[in-house]
Amino acid sequence: MGKNKISRFAENATFEHVVQPTFTELMADTLPLRGRWNADFFEREAPLVLELGCGRGEYTIGLARLAPQKNYLGVDIKGARIWRGAKTAVELGLDNVGFLRTHVDHLLRCFGPQEVDEIWLTFSDPQIGKARKRLTSPLFLARYKEILKPGGVIHLKTDSPLLYEYTLEQIAAHGLTIQERSAEVYAELVPRVSPEEQAVLNIRTYYEQMWLEAGRTIHYVRFAF
Ligand SMILES: C[S@@+](CC[C@H](N)C(=O)[O-])C[C@H]1O[C@@H](n2cnc3c(N)ncnc32)[C@H](O)[C@@H]1O
Repeated sequence: MGKNKISRFAENATFEHVVQPTFTELMADTLPLRGRWNADFFEREAPLVLELGCGRGEYTIGLARLAPQKNYLGVDIKGARIWRGAKTAVELGLDNVGFLRTHVDHLLRCFGPQEVDEIWLTFSDPQIGKARKRLTSPLFLARYKEILKPGGVIHLKTDSPLLYEYTLEQIAAHGLTIQERSAEVYAELVPRVSPEEQAVLNIRTYYEQMWLEAGRTIHYVRFAF
């Protein structure tokens, strides 16, 4: 393992706003924060927003700056990526941001029923040929339904036409409600929404920046149960 990674992992362990559940806690369903993120982690009642597969946490940080009245939690399995987001939160003095290092398959072990208000899926792996593993597969939608409050929303931002189209199919198959959609975020959607929504859509992640430089088009859909 590189020196950088080792020092980042070590610093993660010192951050109060980075939670790294143990295997034992997860397997025994005893994560103390489950159902208590607002009360015990953020120590305030506020809408709770998750970014799943947050990488370096650009959406978690960007949204937290735009909406200080909400609580934001970035979730990713890679500690060195989470470290970048966690460090930025410290540098910016954000107290409405946390990071959870875990596998997204453990979602129900980490969050209680109706604990979450919004979920962001940012440039998730399209899992070509492995539809079950996509973050908008029926399995994941069922998990989101359990942890989301009634009326809670899911945002998908992606460069992948496959993941975008697949998600639209799942939305139709499950009778979910599309609140907003566009196959061309920057050419079509951004010009027609409010300045507040533009600021949200204009947040760029590491992967998004890479795909934009490669000339790819960005897709977005926001839907609810
Ligand atoms: C393509 S990257 C996108 C990262 C970031 N959202 C961005 O746009 O730059 C996918 C991210 O999902 C994370 N990831 C993949 N599988 C995961 C899993 N099973 N549980 C948690 N995170 C996962 C990876 O570590 C990676 O950071």
